[in-house]
Amino acid sequence: MRVTYFGHSCFGVELGGKNILFDPFIEGNELAAHIDIASIKADYILLSHGHSDHTADAISIAKANGATVVASYEVAVWAGNQGVAYHPMNTGGKWHFDFGTVKCVSAVHSSSLPDGTYGGNPMGFIIESGHQSMYYSGDTALTLDMQLIPKFANITWAALPIGDNFTMGIQDAILAAKMVECTKVMGVHYDTFGYIKIDKNSAVAQFKLAGIDLFLPGIGDTLDL
Ligand code: NI
Ligand code: MN
Repeated sequence: MRVTYFGHSCFGVELGGKNILFDPFIEGNELAAHIDIASIKADYILLSHGHSDHTADAISIAKANGATVVASYEVAVWAGNQGVAYHPMNTGGKWHFDFGTVKCVSAVHSSSLPDGTYGGNPMGFIIESGHQSMYYSGDTALTLDMQLIPKFANITWAALPIGDNFTMGIQDAILAAKMVECTKVMGVHYDTFGYIKIDKNSAVAQFKLAGIDLFLPGIGDTLDL
């Protein structure tokens, strides 16, 4: 699967001929200052929860691309109220889109929108398209619910937060990858703020010791996972 990393927890994947963008937070991320937001293509924008470090650029990118926002009911309606197409979902639900399926799974976190209103439950996503599948946990603690993921899909790779403080740190993300039964992880939600700075070499080494490949692409880099 072709994946482009845009910093923090924002990344795009190409699936079934469509561009799917996750959790856009670019303009406010000084580490992503070299990214031209106008160059980002999106047919769908999936938002894991309402926090601004996951939603800040969702509306502008959706409007520029005519993209559909897929999120919890509350986050999706917030997007719809700003004039973009939306598809509301909630935890446990699955939908067949033209690129493949999205199943919403639980995340242990919080979720309020940038305007302070309630953002519904935070979620993770399982995306399946043909024989390819990936799991993005969203911002979450390690949770035993992750043991369900391999019952739902045979996950090729997972995007997991590794920055600690607000989410799982490195050791918890390793345990998460084991529950998900996946040996390829792209780390997200690290280095952007002071609270979540990590030692990247140490992170890669710790994952390696557990038999898992940790990918930490540069911001703007594309890789195949
Ligand atoms: Ni958050
Ligand atoms: Mn976050």
